[in-house]
Amino acid sequence: MDRYAVAGNPVEHSQSPFIHARFAEQTGQALEYSRLLVPLDAFVPTVQAFAADGARGCNVTVPFKFEAYSAATRSSERAQLAQAANTLRFDADGWFADNTDGAGLVADVQHNAGCDVAGRDLLLLGAGGAASGVLGPLLELRPRRVVVANRTLDRAQQLTRSHQALAERCGTELAAAALDACGSGYQLVINATAASLHGAGVPVPATVLARGALAYDMMYGPAAAGFLQWAAEHGATGRDGLGMLVEQAAEAFLVWRGVRPQTAPVLAQLRARAREAG
Ligand code: ATR
Repeated sequence: MDRYAVAGNPVEHSQSPFIHARFAEQTGQALEYSRLLVPLDAFVPTVQAFAADGARGCNVTVPFKFEAYSAATRSSERAQLAQAANTLRFDADGWFADNTDGAGLVADVQHNAGCDVAGRDLLLLGAGGAASGVLGPLLELRPRRVVVANRTLDRAQQLTRSHQALAERCGTELAAAALDACGSGYQLVINATAASLHGAGVPVPATVLARGALAYDMMYGPAAAGFLQWAAEHGATGRDGLGMLVEQAAEAFLVWRGVRPQTAPVLAQLRARAREAG
């Protein structure tokens, strides 16, 4: 049986094995998908051992997305733009790196949440692996303006610099900002920071939200709860990253298996499981 896994640290709460098992059933593919807990200082040897053991690929999660990209011999254009990968395929001639996070976010925002990003003002919070994976695909939707705001301004500036040419091609104004000077009245605010994992609150004032804005947290479960509550308290529509998780997984499944599974039934099952658990 073809084997895959999600490689990260931590990975014990990952929903990816459940999602890929549903995709495999749905498409009639024989595969096994597990969790690979990777020591923080041993990403490459651990994944090499997994590949040498006959595995076909893996997803990559925190904190290894930059390392996964660097370790690959070939990569997709979207992974090159992000300089980060969430999907590795072990080919005969080496590792192929891709990044399906942005496509996943875009599918969830546009199709599942019904938010048309073209012509809108967008605030992206964070400039780490999560933010860099989604900036390119967001720009391709041709928003009017994108501001990347980060605690460390330098990192936001680096990220906007590497995406400036794409922004110009898309006719989008792209800028970097500090969290305390990132403007106000955005129709879409996307949280790609790890602030909640460190016990911190939402790192920007509620004035960033336009009336009726979509406030999107790329996290899900307890890690997204504070942001969703903040959104609700300030008249925005909150959405967690569960839909993005399923959509990025479907894109990874396509990279590995050549077929894109249906996401809606799997997202509905995950939401039902979350309701039962909570
Ligand atoms: P990931 O791959 O999840 O993006 P990361 O590369 O460590 O992980 O990036 C985490 C992001 O969350 C960064 O943008 C980080 O800001 P810095 O670049 O200044 O480190 C942001 N972040 C983490 N803790 C935060 C906090 N308490 N307040 C605001 N931003 C925070």
